[in-house]
Amino acid sequence: MRRPHRLIPDNTLFLLAEGYAWLPARFRRTDRQVVRTRLLGKPAVALRGPDAVRFFYGEGHVQRRTALPEPVLSTLFGHGSVQTLDGHAHRVRKELFMTLLDDPEGIDGLVAHVRAAWDELVRSWEQSSRVVLFDEASRVLARGVCRWAGLPLNDADADHLARDVTAMVDGFATPGPRHWRARAARRRQEAWVAGLVSEARARSSGQDGGPPARSAVAAVARHRDADGRPLDPRTAAVELLNIVRPTVAIAWFVTFAAHALHRWPEHRERLASGDDAFATAFADEVRRFYPFAPFVGGAAVRSMRWRGERIPGGALVLLDLFGQNHDPGLWDEPYRFDPGRFDPARFAAGGTETAPDVLVPQGGGDPRTGHRCPGERITVEVLKVLAVRLARLRYHVPPQDLDVPLRRVPTRPRSGFVIGGVHAAPAPRGTGAHRAS
Ligand code: HEM
Repeated sequence: MRRPHRLIPDNTLFLLAEGYAWLPARFRRTDRQVVRTRLLGKPAVALRGPDAVRFFYGEGHVQRRTALPEPVLSTLFGHGSVQTLDGHAHRVRKELFMTLLDDPEGIDGLVAHVRAAWDELVRSWEQSSRVVLFDEASRVLARGVCRWAGLPLNDADADHLARDVTAMVDGFATPGPRHWRARAARRRQEAWVAGLVSEARARSSGQDGGPPARSAVAAVARHRDADGRPLDPRTAAVELLNIVRPTVAIAWFVTFAAHALHRWPEHRERLASGDDAFATAFADEVRRFYPFAPFVGGAAVRSMRWRGERIPGGALVLLDLFGQNHDPGLWDEPYRFDPGRFDPARFAAGGTETAPDVLVPQGGGDPRTGHRCPGERITVEVLKVLAVRLARLRYHVPPQDLDVPLRRVPTRPRSGFVIGGVHAAPAPRGTGAHRAS
């Protein structure tokens, strides 16, 4: 007889204690297609695999409006954000993001600003005996995205914004001081950006010191929702932060890229060479291998079945992103860091290209119609350009705690990845420019 849900113990504390390992461990313990559990007192059903991705993102299966817990809204996403919308209202709001973020010219512009910010800041690292790469990468990204988005910030303000938006990401999943810092950071930045939006609306776009007409600030300020109304300044601020915050969060992947180059230095030379296909493969393997978003969730809109398994109406449906990216049924030796698994040269030699909805670090399905991340192309392009710069940089890695604890969400190397002896001149090819000590 199938166990009724009320007998399944609540797993919230296990999730907090086990972090990324929580769902994969439960999938390992069952021979069924789903994991049944409870979170925050609600029944929850976890799925994974490409078919599960298509089901999860399929029209009318799960909705987000009631699914996101208040602590996540008050830190990571913001109340009233695109993440909380469903159906037509979601599509209209999502179009705003797709127009800004999925446009090749826009992506090139952002990459150029980030590259310039790196080149500016790298000089100051040469003056310092010890640089925490995570902190510096977040400053680079904050300066780049603010300039691109048309946010009028001086460098000190951009550094402050970098600290606040990384705090929002760092504290969303943990009770205690990290969480309170995240709430305070969101309150502060929403109030400040809402003021900018009101100012931008008061001035005509492109004139009188208003934001450039094609900037993200101008686009958000003039956006009209499904009801035909402009966003109130607070919601406009939430959506601008929905561009700034995740762009700065690429610092997590930049830090992981440094970790990967340190652990597997054999990739450094090919990455430094500017081989674009390899840089893409390296970025995809960083996004697959290292833990960032553990899972995504929504509420079942009605009672449904998936592969014969009943999903009760209103239950939380979780898609196990981290578990899927490490599922041995989908990936050969999933715990081996191997950019070659995404290398087109390998496909040309008879390997198989990764099928859609298999690699899911930023969600799956169609980003226009569903909630898949609209910033995935930006993430890959920005990560590529910074990983190549990192591979060309000369530095040493002093002794430090490089452990990446799976219990912590989001995680990163404990030290933040400290480097010293930085020398920004491009290293001559083939000289083994990187020294690890
Ligand atoms: C740092 C790397 C990133 C990771 C790991 C990441 C991950 C994700 C994930 C897992 C989702 C949720 C998908 C779902 O709910 O089904 C998401 C949504 C989203 N991401 Fe990203 N993302 C990243 C970068 C970006 C960037 C660079 C941007 C914008 C410039 C961005 C903007 C968004 C927005 C606006 C949503 C909400 C989409 C919606 O609800 O329709 N993300 N991201």
